[in-house]
Amino acid sequence: MAWSFSVHTPSAAATRELAARLAGAARRGDVIVLQGSLGAGKTTFAQGFARGLGVQGPVTSPTFTLVRQYPCALGQLVHVDVYRLDHLAEVADLGLADLVEDGVVLVEWGDVARPALGPVTWTVSIARSEAGDDHRVVTVSGGEETRRGEVAAALDAGTGGT
Ligand SMILES: Nc1ncnc2c1ncn2[C@@H]1O[C@H](COP(=O)(O)OP(=O)(O)O)[C@@H](O)[C@H]1O
Ligand SMILES: [Mg+2]
Repeated sequence: MAWSFSVHTPSAAATRELAARLAGAARRGDVIVLQGSLGAGKTTFAQGFARGLGVQGPVTSPTFTLVRQYPCALGQLVHVDVYRLDHLAEVADLGLADLVEDGVVLVEWGDVARPALGPVTWTVSIARSEAGDDHRVVTVSGGEETRRGEVAAALDAGTGGT
């Protein structure tokens, strides 16, 4: 990856808020991969991201449904979870390359799904922090130099606040 930014989030709410800010830099056609162990906060991040795109109502884990779609400011937010390895073939069947034309695709356990995905816009890695149970380090990385500044601005937007 050409660039990356790491942000420390001391609570689930802080991760949601960070995700909502990043959503402000998203565009139709973006594919975002979410990495991190079980319970790291991938779905929590997706909830904040959805909120940032104006999605109304609850955003829940698509672990057993593979994919959920929500109308949002950029068309459809497509939320995918490929936790179960045997779903990779099914993920390919979902035709994410077509779905992405309708909005933004967010893939939990995205590393596993990479072979079934087209170009990935950003990779978001969430790791537990030694600072405490509710602390995480969220790292956003990407390859397109042209979008680096937009992501930096989106992530910085909250650092001066509460
Ligand atoms: N800083 C944090 N960021 C994200 N989640 C956190 C944080 N601190 C505690 N949590 C909790 O960790 C859990 C993460 O669960 P979830 O988002 O479903 O993880 P995943 O989708 O990665 O398996 C939630 O219960 C959330 O409230
Ligand atoms: Mg999850």
